Amino acid sequence: METAEFLKILESIKDLPTLPVIAFEVNRMLMNSSTSIDLLSETIKKDQSIVSKILKLVNSAFYGARSKVSTIHEAVIRLGFNSVRNIVVSVSVFDAFAMNDDQGLAFDIEDLWKHSVGVAITSKYLSEKAGLQDPDDCFVSGLLHDIGLIILAQNFPEVLKEMMGMVRQEGVSIYDAEKKLLQIRHNKIGELMAQKWQLPTSLCDALKYHHLPIRGAINPELITLVHLGDVICNRYMITSINPKKDKRSPILTSVSPQSEKILEKYFMYADDWFPEVYEKIKEACLFFINK
Ligand SMILES: [Fe+2]
Ligand SMILES: [Fe+2]
Repeated sequence: METAEFLKILESIKDLPTLPVIAFEVNRMLMNSSTSIDLLSETIKKDQSIVSKILKLVNSAFYGARSKVSTIHEAVIRLGFNSVRNIVVSVSVFDAFAMNDDQGLAFDIEDLWKHSVGVAITSKYLSEKAGLQDPDDCFVSGLLHDIGLIILAQNFPEVLKEMMGMVRQEGVSIYDAEKKLLQIRHNKIGELMAQKWQLPTSLCDALKYHHLPIRGAINPELITLVHLGDVICNRYMITSINPKKDKRSPILTSVSPQSEKILEKYFMYADDWFPEVYEKIKEACLFFINK
């Protein structure tokens, strides 16, 4: 399929996922510098299920709660606007993309979410340890980095099936298979989605460049953190797509040398710190996926 044709189809899908209303509204409000803490809190409080999820997340050990936050107002004051936006986007995106895996897909969608949660936690951890970037930016970028694959799974299951066939039979990576079949890769689809949702440019960039760090990006550090989180999760088999009976990660196992250099000591000694992170990932999977 030609890229133009694919984009036309993508654009024409009426029920292409929209960002959940609350996240869209919060995101829009934060573009306006006159938005007050009270107004933001009141807006979030309109959706009580989001409120309880936000409080549960910010108070969780895996997210790194320092002291208990009891209300949304308090969360906004303590965490700040940007972090609250990231958290609202993170928790609401799971509702928007809820999908059971009995749809004859070429892979288990739950595995993809587990991988995404793994990358979110790992990138956030690296950000905190290295003192680089905002850990919450890393979390939401890691969580959404492979959203392009979800879009493919939901809207182009046949194409995805064909891609997975190529991965299994020809031994190519899914990254190469999608290029061959679609002329467009999931990172680009993710970027288009994030742009449609009007998310910040740095987040759109993190989705676009997570396999090709730094080149042309406005925030190379954020991309580096997400890229390394992805590589490390693939290395420890928290993979997004794992063809049955084949334990190799078909996504991308190589690390960009430039990125590796930036976080060399963390990357080299991942065996030492990853078990601790893995425990957090397990807790986070329970929170987000309930498994
Ligand atoms: Fe990816
Ligand atoms: Fe990934």
